[in-house]
Amino acid sequence: LAQIEGIDWSLLDVLKTHETVNARGTFAPLSAMELSQIDANRAHLEEVGLQAIREGKVAAVLLAGGQGTRLGSDKPKGMYNIGITKDVYIFEMIVRNLMDVVNRTGTWIPLYVMTSEKNNDDTVKFFKDMNYFGYDKDYVDFFVQEMAPASTFDGKIYLEEKGKVSTSPNGNGGWFISMVKAGLCEKAKKQGVEYINIFAVDNVCQRMADPCFVGAMIKNQYPSAAKVVKKANPEERVGVLCYEDGKPSIVEYYELSDEMRYQKDDQGELAYKDGVILNYLFRIDKLEEIMNNKLNVHIVKKKIPYVNAKGEIVKPEVENGYKFETLVLDMIHMMDDCLAYEVVRNKEFAPIKNKTGVDSVDTARELLKENGVTL
Ligand code: UTP
Repeated sequence: LAQIEGIDWSLLDVLKTHETVNARGTFAPLSAMELSQIDANRAHLEEVGLQAIREGKVAAVLLAGGQGTRLGSDKPKGMYNIGITKDVYIFEMIVRNLMDVVNRTGTWIPLYVMTSEKNNDDTVKFFKDMNYFGYDKDYVDFFVQEMAPASTFDGKIYLEEKGKVSTSPNGNGGWFISMVKAGLCEKAKKQGVEYINIFAVDNVCQRMADPCFVGAMIKNQYPSAAKVVKKANPEERVGVLCYEDGKPSIVEYYELSDEMRYQKDDQGELAYKDGVILNYLFRIDKLEEIMNNKLNVHIVKKKIPYVNAKGEIVKPEVENGYKFETLVLDMIHMMDDCLAYEVVRNKEFAPIKNKTGVDSVDTARELLKENGVTL
């Protein structure tokens, strides 16, 4: 009963409308701050960012509540060992990258780690066992995101076991609300935090609390900012940052019309070329303004294990229902503007989604080696 009371059943409302409503507005391209422009102003932008970090105004939020089903490990994704001749864990790489900024500024950056009820205990224990990979544990906090029910295609709830509704983490869009509920927004504000850099667990090359990125956002007074890479080709499966009805917005690759996908600008480049890499900066006061706004609910087809009427556990071979998620990318559309900040793909984009092939352990290892990391 406690579980039922704790579930946000309004998530399922999307099932009534998802086949008929096309809620998207009118799109227009957005100009990114490109590498040449960043390089020309780098020293100054970095100085602005370094100062904000030294003043304790920047915190980092690691999104680690996902299930990593494509990677197929039953442990939290961050515990995955990508080393070859020695142990190198995904969490370790993330902490190491953040430590570069700590060492440069002489300032500990508060690190808030979002987990889910499925992986929280393992994650917290791993950080402890690994002595926080050298990070000061007083600057690391964990908070647990909420869960969403899983349903059949016609909206009936599955049970995971007798007396327990089948649930999965409710997507990465609930991070700020969960952080507030855990008292960490208050804590951050008391510590003087004004900007939050939120990022995915699986991109082992990315730079967090990147002084130049922070400086570019502050200097140009944006409420939010997103690291982007130029799309490798029109078909690349990344969301693109653009405007929608005059507000910044991210269109997922599967939502792009062919017209937008292939449209060129005056320079002959793709008009919608700025692919997001799930590394965003938000002003904390702007997050508080929008935190009670309803986020879109996305539905994802999944194989959902369940108990049948005889009480037997069934593990389906094919997708048999939906899980419901809200996404951090939809928060960008609630901001008045968003700086698209270009980064070098081969230095900052090595997502680990799969074991092999595209966006995999293999491709990430290659990039890490290219960037001088010994594995
Ligand atoms: P993905 O969309 O890649 O999902 O998450 P995933 O769960 O890691 O992997 P698959 O799709 O099951 O294979 C992007 C980022 O958002 C976090 C993930 O941990 C990752 O850092 N995330 C995702 C959450 O924190 N909570 C969620 O409910 C979902």
